Amino acid sequence: MTEAVMRHGADAVILGRKLDRLTQTAEELSRLTGRTCLAAQADVRNPKQLQDAVAKTVEKFGGIDFVICGAAGNFLAPISGLSENGFKTVIEIDTLGTYNTIKATLPQVRASKGAYIHVSATLHYKGTPYQVHVSAAKAAVDATSNVLAVEEGPHGVRSNVIAPGPIAGTEGVDRLSPKGGDNALGDMPAGRYGDVKDIANTTVFLFSGAASFISGQVIAVDGASEHLRTTQLPYPDSVLDPASMKSLIKARM
Ligand code: COA
Repeated sequence: MTEAVMRHGADAVILGRKLDRLTQTAEELSRLTGRTCLAAQADVRNPKQLQDAVAKTVEKFGGIDFVICGAAGNFLAPISGLSENGFKTVIEIDTLGTYNTIKATLPQVRASKGAYIHVSATLHYKGTPYQVHVSAAKAAVDATSNVLAVEEGPHGVRSNVIAPGPIAGTEGVDRLSPKGGDNALGDMPAGRYGDVKDIANTTVFLFSGAASFISGQVIAVDGASEHLRTTQLPYPDSVLDPASMKSLIKARM
């Protein structure tokens, strides 16, 4: 997403917990796009670290036009096998992380009459087994974006959500697909998984003047797969006998 926006002329700051990986990626993005990308170490659960990253951005670039709230945590676990802390951790990363990012950046985005994109999901449109933590967290992200769009619209700020379907080669697909599955395309009406470019192109569109009257929307970028989606783990076996799913679920990292 950041690379695509940079290719259209933006400079950028990318945030994350692991500074070595971030720095390497920032250098790569600068080289690929001919623009400047900086790395700022921050955990979205920590408001102070986000405020410091904003200060660093403003010092370098003078302001902030666009913000992508993309931090997420996910793994497969049923309610019966998920601790209170496991649930809380994902809410803290996805929901509080989004809120903290908005709080830290809003004065700048308001000043530039800029825009937000929040990266959500489609799985909470149905009751998806093993995904209670993320379903609750992403439903809250969608709701937060809608309120942001309405409250900040009069200040010239837009806010939208991109809800990606399965995107090939991403950590999300890797973590959530059953191990050893054949990745059949039977429930993909487009006949393929999504490509990261599909999300990148939607990002460019939503941040561009072409989307100047689009705000408070959730845009599913999933090739219509949500209309056909079924549970990936066998149902009801996965809930009747969670232990039997062990061989299908990626081991903890
Ligand atoms: N199944 C069940 N519970 C799990 C789990 C799993 N696979 N992985 C972690 N948890 C639980 C832990 O047991 C812990 O709860 P406990 O204290 O009751 O044992 C809680 O979640 C926090 O785990 P911890 O590893 O301390 O959190 P973290 O902040 O270091 O990591 C995660 C956050 C768990 C979301 C981790 O998976 C992560 O960093 N993910 C980031 C990338 C990502 O998920 N990308 C996918 C996007 S779709």
